[in-house]
Amino acid sequence: MHDLPTITPYQVFKSRRQILKNPLPFHREKFEKHGDFFRIKPPFGKAVLFTRDAQLTQHVLQKGHRKYDKSPLQTRSMAKYLGRGILTSGGEHWRTHRRMVQPAFHRKKLQSLIGIMETAIRAELERIVPRETRDIYPLMGDLAFQVVANSLFSRPDIRDRMEVLKDITERNQHMLIREMRQPYLKWWFYLSGAIQRHLRLAEKSRGILNTIIEERLGSGEEKDDLLDLLLAARYEDGTPMSRNQLIDEVLILFSAGYETTANALCFTLFLLARHPHVQQRVCAEADQFRDHPSGLLGRGGKSYIQCCIEEAMRLYPPVYVIDRVALEDDTIGERHIPKGTLILMSIFELHRKAAFWGDAEAFRPERFGADAVKGVSDHYYPFGAGPRMCVGNNFAMYEMVMAMAIIFQDYEVRTPAATLDINPLISLKPGKVPITFIPRRKT
Ligand code: HEM
Repeated sequence: MHDLPTITPYQVFKSRRQILKNPLPFHREKFEKHGDFFRIKPPFGKAVLFTRDAQLTQHVLQKGHRKYDKSPLQTRSMAKYLGRGILTSGGEHWRTHRRMVQPAFHRKKLQSLIGIMETAIRAELERIVPRETRDIYPLMGDLAFQVVANSLFSRPDIRDRMEVLKDITERNQHMLIREMRQPYLKWWFYLSGAIQRHLRLAEKSRGILNTIIEERLGSGEEKDDLLDLLLAARYEDGTPMSRNQLIDEVLILFSAGYETTANALCFTLFLLARHPHVQQRVCAEADQFRDHPSGLLGRGGKSYIQCCIEEAMRLYPPVYVIDRVALEDDTIGERHIPKGTLILMSIFELHRKAAFWGDAEAFRPERFGADAVKGVSDHYYPFGAGPRMCVGNNFAMYEMVMAMAIIFQDYEVRTPAATLDINPLISLKPGKVPITFIPRRKT
């Protein structure tokens, strides 16, 4: 660690405005200058290791995962607002609950959710106003939120309550990002009452979820949705999750599942709008599955639409950095990682490393098709990897492929923008994404 290029507190202070706004150019500059590793030494506490190295990332997430756990950024800061669901916990608590939540996302179970997903997607896409150029983030955000909400509760009549939940989720995420980016203002956030205000909002969202769960239990209905699967999950001794734990897990599914998917949908649509030739192929594939878009899922081969989404998530990974703390001393190749090291793996930089991807900045969905370069999975981590890999990865892919198929059956997309602003918050969000939906001529 000590022989690594070190960014001093003064250098960080000098760039603080840029880092606060968007830290990615700062990371890029340091990686370009120093190679695949550098460390930032805060005035107090341990240095943070930044890396875009594929071998180290693979080791930390997969082979050597037992020696690493999530950092306090997630297990403490996020957990404050979201509770201790599988995203925000570690150790035995995480292991036990991951075992209980994971079966709900098994491919076979997802088959029964496809109908719910399709109905929710179609309902949201009804709101498209043809030929008008608009920022599509609000539409994609609602779409992704409604898909999670309907898959959990299969109840279209609770939309108002879901809107409140969405608003609280967004407001608490903004607070969290302020706390992470401006830790030196922690005292002020407490003193001004901002943290307490957001904690009260978190309580309100828990109350909403509690009522919905009560209503389900009171109705005696069986729905075969995610909530029923979580209610049926049992610890090894045969007992169910406590109400508090169940609410934690549901809150986590909302937080982890909606913004990431909305971001990926926006980036994909923007890139397709910028690449009409790619879009033509997408339209042709969507036409083949006009009456049954779900036919694109789980076929023998991968659909071209999926390749486009994967390539969009390479260029714009919604989870752009993954963090871990070393639980014990470790050695990876020649590199020694002392216990307690905080590691930030830049997925954004790893996905754009020219040494592996070649023309890394270009949008080429073929990279993920039949002719994919060998070793892609060692350099590609949109859903993470290893035991903590995204539990909703298949869910998200089903949802995104279906949304794209349904959109391109009826529309072409265009954009007046040549480039896209990005806004790295907890997830990598796009700035405004101006898109025009042009009705396609039916053949
Ligand atoms: C394009 C969409 C998505 C992306 C890019 C994404 C990405 C990720 C990544 C990278 C992780 C691992 C983080 C780490 O290792 O520290 C993760 C974890 C997780 N994701 Fe997703 N995700 C997406 C959609 C979803 C959806 C739809 C759900 C659920 C409805 C979901 C639920 C979760 C949960 C619960 C975890 C924590 C898993 C654990 O730690 O055991 N995600 N996601």
